[in-house]
Amino acid sequence: MATPTGRIVAVTGGANGIGSACARLFASRGDTVYVLDRDAEAARPLVAQCAGSRFIAIDVSVKASVEAAFAEIARQSQRLDVLVNSAGVESRALLANLEEEAWDRVLDINLKGTMLCTQAAARLMKPGGGSVVNIASVAGKRISYSGDVAYTASKGGVLGFTRHAAFELAVDGIRVTAVCPGPTLTPMILRNLSQQRMDAVVETVPLGRWVQPEDIASAVEFLAGPGAAMCTGTSIDVDGGVMVSNGSRYQDYFAART
Ligand SMILES: NC(=O)c1ccc[n+]([C@@H]2O[C@H](COP(=O)([O-])OP(=O)(O)OC[C@H]3O[C@@H](n4cnc5c(N)ncnc54)[C@H](O)[C@@H]3O)[C@@H](O)[C@H]2O)c1
Repeated sequence: MATPTGRIVAVTGGANGIGSACARLFASRGDTVYVLDRDAEAARPLVAQCAGSRFIAIDVSVKASVEAAFAEIARQSQRLDVLVNSAGVESRALLANLEEEAWDRVLDINLKGTMLCTQAAARLMKPGGGSVVNIASVAGKRISYSGDVAYTASKGGVLGFTRHAAFELAVDGIRVTAVCPGPTLTPMILRNLSQQRMDAVVETVPLGRWVQPEDIASAVEFLAGPGAAMCTGTSIDVDGGVMVSNGSRYQDYFAART
């Protein structure tokens, strides 16, 4: 099925990592891509390199900021076809030490931000339908590699939000789906994991390498496009097989069997 071009696409967290790969892929298809992020500096090379891409500053956890950003999209493009919710953060505390502020920050950005942006996007999509793709995580189905209980809870919440929003928005022709990345090599990981820990993580991935942001972008493109016309409320794991592993080093499975 041919990929449509000329869509109006918004990508939160589009300045870095997975969001950036999504923005670049949509831009390469000829879509107009709004890079919505709080990091203007990081967005600069992307916007310079990708024709049709534009930066709008946003803090997804603040309703007024979200409304202003989507009002700007409405002003410039009058509609929206695709929203990718990729803005996200993690914290790294044991439950015993987890500060209320850290919990609120992670839940506000990862979960409330997804809700606020979907709400604002749905208003712009309503006349013609559209597609929202949420970047959840395998952490939403098991537990996080590098984050903590707040991160895992936020991503479980994103999957619940995806199901329920899909149900409500189907009446407007808006599909809501999610991608659950496994360990994906992005600035978030490079900031938080030592090389030793990164090497240990890859040994638990059956397909034998870190997921790349482009692997996630290609699943997002599928879910956003006509090939997924009857998919809503569902999620795709892009995790190199992590969800079907037993958690030990992959090679140990074979070493212990004849
Ligand atoms: N990297 C992984 O292994 C992995 C695995 C599973 C899920 N994810 C999820 O994928 C998404 C993207 O993560 P990434 O690894 O690309 O991270 P990243 O840190 O590389 O990029 C995240 C982007 O979100 C932006 N952002 C953060 N808070 C924001 C806010 N309040 N408002 C606007 N923008 C904000 C940052 O500026 C940054 O550009 C996140 O939701 C993350 O939880 C990542």
